[in-house]
Amino acid sequence: MTEIQSGGTAIDEMAPSTEGMNGSLLSVRDLQTHFFSREGVVKAVDGVSFDIKPGEILGIAGESGCGKSVTSQSILRILPKNGKIVGGEILFQNEDQLIDLATEDADGRVLRDIRGKDIAMIFQEPMSAFSPVHTVGDQIIETIRIHQEVSKEEAHDQAIEMLRRVGMPNPARNIDEYTFNLSGGMRQRAMVALSLSCRPKLLIADEPTTAVDVTIQAQMLELLRDIQADLGMAIIMITHDLGVIAELTDRVMIMYLGKEVEHGTVEDVFHRPQHPYTRGLLASIPKMEPGRVEIEPIEGVVPNPYAMPSGCKFHTRCPDFIEGVCERHEPPLTAVGRGHEVSCFLYGGREALE
Ligand SMILES: Nc1ncnc2c1ncn2[C@@H]1O[C@H](COP(=O)(O)OP(=O)(O)O)[C@@H](O)[C@H]1O
Ligand SMILES: [Mg+2]
Repeated sequence: MTEIQSGGTAIDEMAPSTEGMNGSLLSVRDLQTHFFSREGVVKAVDGVSFDIKPGEILGIAGESGCGKSVTSQSILRILPKNGKIVGGEILFQNEDQLIDLATEDADGRVLRDIRGKDIAMIFQEPMSAFSPVHTVGDQIIETIRIHQEVSKEEAHDQAIEMLRRVGMPNPARNIDEYTFNLSGGMRQRAMVALSLSCRPKLLIADEPTTAVDVTIQAQMLELLRDIQADLGMAIIMITHDLGVIAELTDRVMIMYLGKEVEHGTVEDVFHRPQHPYTRGLLASIPKMEPGRVEIEPIEGVVPNPYAMPSGCKFHTRCPDFIEGVCERHEPPLTAVGRGHEVSCFLYGGREALE
């Protein structure tokens, strides 16, 4: 329960327990992040749990507004001012230290050290990662030198090496370029180089392929796969695009309105989807058979976040709605296979209600 110093003395009675980490790098447990404004409270993330092991690639998917970005902003503690973590734990195993990122001071040293060094992030818009008035190289070198005690020359060499790894055509020249002079694809690569410059243990990629054309999207996925194989960091890939999940990730968690609806291996969730929402999402992917594109959108509209449905959040759109149950109670997560869990009354949880 306590962290033990090499001398055998308990140094921190309040340190979170490493128990149950099971070798995980990050363990998010019952995370609740809400926004407070005059219009009311938005429960953007409302009880989400997942684990990721070193070197693993986890996908988080769901329609726009389901809480994917807020989950990642919670992990890095970069939430907008009106957002607050109101419950749960975000346990991060940093070497032999277990840190609860949910309760650390967002502006304190621990999080400043972790951000960019141990956990890095890439976004939809590469320009937002860079300052327009500095060269790509200056920014990578600065990031390296914030987190590592190396000379300017050494950081410069590391920056060139990272630009080479991400496939920049001419690293020795690209290092002195400004992002506005780079093509879209090169900007994406430069952003990946910047985020990986300190060799993070975890990379969070929030819709990195959303705003780009299909060619750059394909290159980006290939790059992430190569770089993951090369450097071995864990990746959380956040996207509304199930094609991206299928191509890149090992496991996936599907979210709806701040809740986890289903998680499992990509194989389980894509080939044996159980939750009516997951089935609906998969059915809404255009089927690219020659000569035809079929889309079957999920019926109904996503509810207003200020007026969330009672019970199961999906009951207002669910084709398998069980009256008297789904609108009254929240379904618990139920195992439907090894490592495959669903929160839906079709699979269990009703016994407990009687
Ligand atoms: N600053 C904010 N104030 C109020 N609500 C917010 C704020 N930021 C996000 N939200 C709400 O939180 C919910 C989850 O948003 P987000 O995590 O960005 O969704 P996505 O899954 O598309 O990334 C949405 O309902 C969104 O409107
Ligand atoms: Mg988002």
